[in-house]
Amino acid sequence: MLPRKISGYQGGIYVWLLQVIIVLALASTVIWLSLQPKSPLYTIADVYVPALDVRNTTFPRGGVGRNSTIIFNVQISNPNKGIGIYYDEINFTLYYSEAVMGVCSIPSFYQGHSKTTQSEVSVHTQKQFWEAISNGTVVDFMVDLAAVVRYKRFCSKTKHHQMDLQAHVPVSSNGTIVGEKNIKLLRIPKLNKTPY
Ligand SMILES: *[C@@H]1O[C@H](CO)[C@@H](O)[C@H](O)[C@H]1NC(C)=O
Ligand SMILES: *[C@@H]1O[C@H](CO)[C@@H](O)[C@H](O)[C@H]1NC(C)=O
Ligand SMILES: *[C@@H]1O[C@H](CO)[C@@H](O)[C@H](O)[C@H]1NC(C)=O
Ligand SMILES: *[C@@H]1O[C@H](CO)[C@@H](O)[C@H](O)[C@H]1NC(C)=O
Ligand SMILES: *[C@@H]1O[C@H](CO)[C@@H](O)[C@H](O)[C@H]1NC(C)=O
Repeated sequence: MLPRKISGYQGGIYVWLLQVIIVLALASTVIWLSLQPKSPLYTIADVYVPALDVRNTTFPRGGVGRNSTIIFNVQISNPNKGIGIYYDEINFTLYYSEAVMGVCSIPSFYQGHSKTTQSEVSVHTQKQFWEAISNGTVVDFMVDLAAVVRYKRFCSKTKHHQMDLQAHVPVSSNGTIVGEKNIKLLRIPKLNKTPY
């Protein structure tokens, strides 16, 4: 009688332990899934081409030999609650008619959770861009962003995640974005990157 009772009692403990383990496993899976990092969001908030600004009398329009800097206002947002992001150097490449017009980068930095960072990116462009712009048309150029990020969850860093995003940015002959500002950088599937 007694041995049987003990074995039944032990069986109950095993079943109970198994249930506890299953519940713990489910709970930690749910917590883990809710902590899956979301990719940061990149937006071109504004573009300014000083050399095309008619109000800028320091650099009158028309000449191709003037300072050909393009200034981008880039917004980088971390949409994660409770997860920080380490950015390696972020590289920007400016294309016009599939040719590289200029490059620039933002140095590596750390961004806390739910934060947005504003960065001013100055690209010194090539002569072709200015020849096209000085014809007075709307210039549809393309911005390419290459970034590598790691997410900080609790005290550990994830592995490197690579991002390659693009955006079309139409700029009018007065040096500002045509239409809506805040252009999102997205993944454009097939892109012809002709080396310059
Ligand atoms: C004119 O352009 C220069 C450089 O291209 C820039 O530094 C300056 O701030 C501009 N001036 C105005 C009034 O926007
Ligand atoms: C254009 O201006 C920027 C700063 O305003 C300067 O760093 C750059 O060297 C200038 N480029 C040329 C070609 O003068
Ligand atoms: C600008 O216009 C001139 C003549 O109107 C033309 O020869 C030249 O090819 C044009 N340049 C670009 C880049 O469109
Ligand atoms: C950015 O450019 C630097 C220097 O050219 C390069 O070492 C780095 O790998 C580039 N980063 C990305 C994400 O492409
Ligand atoms: C620049 O040009 C666009 C259209 O070409 C116009 O909508 C905008 O008001 C102009 N901006 C300025 C500051 O003149």
